[in-house]
Amino acid sequence: MIDNFTKERILEATRIEDVIGEFISLRRRGSNYIGLCPFHDDKSPSLSVSSTKQIFKCFACGKAGTAVSFLMEHEHMTYPEALKYLAAKYGIEVQEKEESPEDLAASQKRESLLIVTEAAQKHYEANLWNEETSLIGLQYFRQRKFTDETIRKFGLGYAPKQEKFSFSAKALEQGFKSEYLVETGLSLVRDDGRLLDRFYDRVMFPVHSISGRVIAFGGRIMSPGKVEGKAKYINSPESEIYVKNLSLYGIFFAKNAIAKKNKCLLVEGYTDVISMHQSGIENVVASSGTSLTTGQISLIRRFTDNITVIYDGDAAGIKAAIRGIDMILEAGMTVKVVLLPPEDDPDSFAKAHTRDEIEDFITSNEKDFVTFKADLLHEEIGNDPSRRTQFLRDVIETIAVIPDDIARGVYAQMVVDRYNFPSESVFTSISRFRAQKRQQQTARRNYEQRQQAQRQQTRSDAASYGDTPLPPPPSEEDYGGATYDAVPSEDVPYQSAITNSLMEPCERELASYLVRFGEYPIHREENMIYGAEKVDEITVSQYIRQSLEEDELTFSNPVFQKIYDNYFEIPRNPEADVMTAQSRIIQHFTCSEDQSVVREVISMISESHPLTIEAYRKSITPEEQLLHINVPKSVLFFKLRYIELQLKDIPAQVASAFKNNDVELQTQLISHQNLLNKVRSQIMQDMRNIK
Ligand code: CTP
Ligand code: MN
Repeated sequence: MIDNFTKERILEATRIEDVIGEFISLRRRGSNYIGLCPFHDDKSPSLSVSSTKQIFKCFACGKAGTAVSFLMEHEHMTYPEALKYLAAKYGIEVQEKEESPEDLAASQKRESLLIVTEAAQKHYEANLWNEETSLIGLQYFRQRKFTDETIRKFGLGYAPKQEKFSFSAKALEQGFKSEYLVETGLSLVRDDGRLLDRFYDRVMFPVHSISGRVIAFGGRIMSPGKVEGKAKYINSPESEIYVKNLSLYGIFFAKNAIAKKNKCLLVEGYTDVISMHQSGIENVVASSGTSLTTGQISLIRRFTDNITVIYDGDAAGIKAAIRGIDMILEAGMTVKVVLLPPEDDPDSFAKAHTRDEIEDFITSNEKDFVTFKADLLHEEIGNDPSRRTQFLRDVIETIAVIPDDIARGVYAQMVVDRYNFPSESVFTSISRFRAQKRQQQTARRNYEQRQQAQRQQTRSDAASYGDTPLPPPPSEEDYGGATYDAVPSEDVPYQSAITNSLMEPCERELASYLVRFGEYPIHREENMIYGAEKVDEITVSQYIRQSLEEDELTFSNPVFQKIYDNYFEIPRNPEADVMTAQSRIIQHFTCSEDQSVVREVISMISESHPLTIEAYRKSITPEEQLLHINVPKSVLFFKLRYIELQLKDIPAQVASAFKNNDVELQTQLISHQNLLNKVRSQIMQDMRNIK
């Protein structure tokens, strides 16, 4: 952990043009620098580096960030690694917070596990190339047409047949602790206490972490067909260094290509990855036979939002395999699918084709996942009309998890057009499905909170609470078959119907005023209206905070909420003038560890309005002179949106209450509607007063 003081010093010393200049050549243009953008295939210099704002931005591909984020993206450093790199560059001593003895012990243990695994990799690799031991392993790989260069690149190895103790014995002799040999799974303990090698009579595929350290192995039998009683692959067990859910085979060799191509190809196995690399396609990783996990998805997400899954042509298990893909969509990524020709897998396909052929095949055959899945299911139902409902439900389940409104709408329309469903039923089913899911999430949260409260209560008052059972949380499966229910349950406040994307522009605007003008003075509205003598000056940030707090409003988009929350936590020197406070705030945000915050803030401060009326207006009246008009207007607009979104949902809720004969709920809804309408006209009135 680097303490905050040191972090500030590092950031203050950092000159973005020096940092980026080490990796690409920059030319001066005015107060900025330009160069070829390393994040896409740049033909003419599109990367602009601003030394005044200390940010970079590519005008072609849109990539933008600070010196720190440049190092994170370009060099794939972690946040602390980037800070340490800068500290070293500018000669700043890093005061790392002292590690507790437990931390120290844990990191030493991890390191020991890594070292013993690395020793094993060296051992197996040496075996492979050792002509005296045997050429069996090497022959196996050569027969599979792996070149020597490829074999070396992936650190492939060989565990010979006769030597069931060879690695364990050697490792013990070299002083490695048996405890670590067992925990990494390299050795197994026999009944008599002797250590036995887990891997023998197999070729070895080391698995690398994202930073290139060996964390596990897969060992393959060498016969081409099945062998009775023997697994085709034996893999290392999970350990402190190998968490299967968080690793992807090939990620270390693929990460640069994934970022550069802005696309990740996903295959099934070790040999698929290796053959694709050998043919020159390097943006490939494998999930090693299981379906992707959320942890693996976020690993890929560090480099791209686009995944193309490559399936074997004959894959019988495709139906099972596609189940996991909804999760990738839910993470907001774009997923495509390619089916190889029958009889091919990526390994055989890559060997039989050139790099260009493979790339062409992928681009011309990839199909977006939603369409792919829908077609697959549709083929199955044939002409059976009774199965159409189930089909629609299955497809909608996939579409509903997509976070982006526009993408969701496009797919919904696709279902309408392609399979002839009435537009209304498709769209309403999707929103109901989403509402239902939200409702379940809220109910689950409430349930968890109640349970926690109960646990606390139970501790303080065991006798009276002992046996009051709480209802179980709703299960995820519930929404599959159950009828949809548009009336919110008691657990769900009306507000929950408000969706992110509709509030987003207003929230973004307020967050942007905070970041850009938070410390500027603004005249308090009442004082201007009533002509008070002493003009009471508050800052833009104080104004926004008061206005939101008086109505207990928060932002629905977590990124803007984070900006808001963080803003008020940044220490500021009250003596400092507005300009320095401002640049410190911007620096704070643009160097945040959270890259989604960085991206937002950078786009706020680097926004330009080329040749618009807005730009013309700004050029005659600087924005900071209009704050007393624009900020209150934005606040009111935010509130208006909020109210209108609530109002919009009420008719449907009333109708549904009517259908269920719930008179009480109907009355409640109507009076709520009246209240909202009143507030709404008050806000409109206020807005008119500002002009
Ligand atoms: N796998 C495994 N254990 C098995 C079978 C498979 O862990 N018993 C994992 C491996 O990561 C393997 C992947 O699933 O790479 C895909 O399996 P498969 O297609 O059978 O193996 P390939 O790697 O394609 O091997 P080969 O090309 O030699 O058939
Ligand atoms: Mn395979």
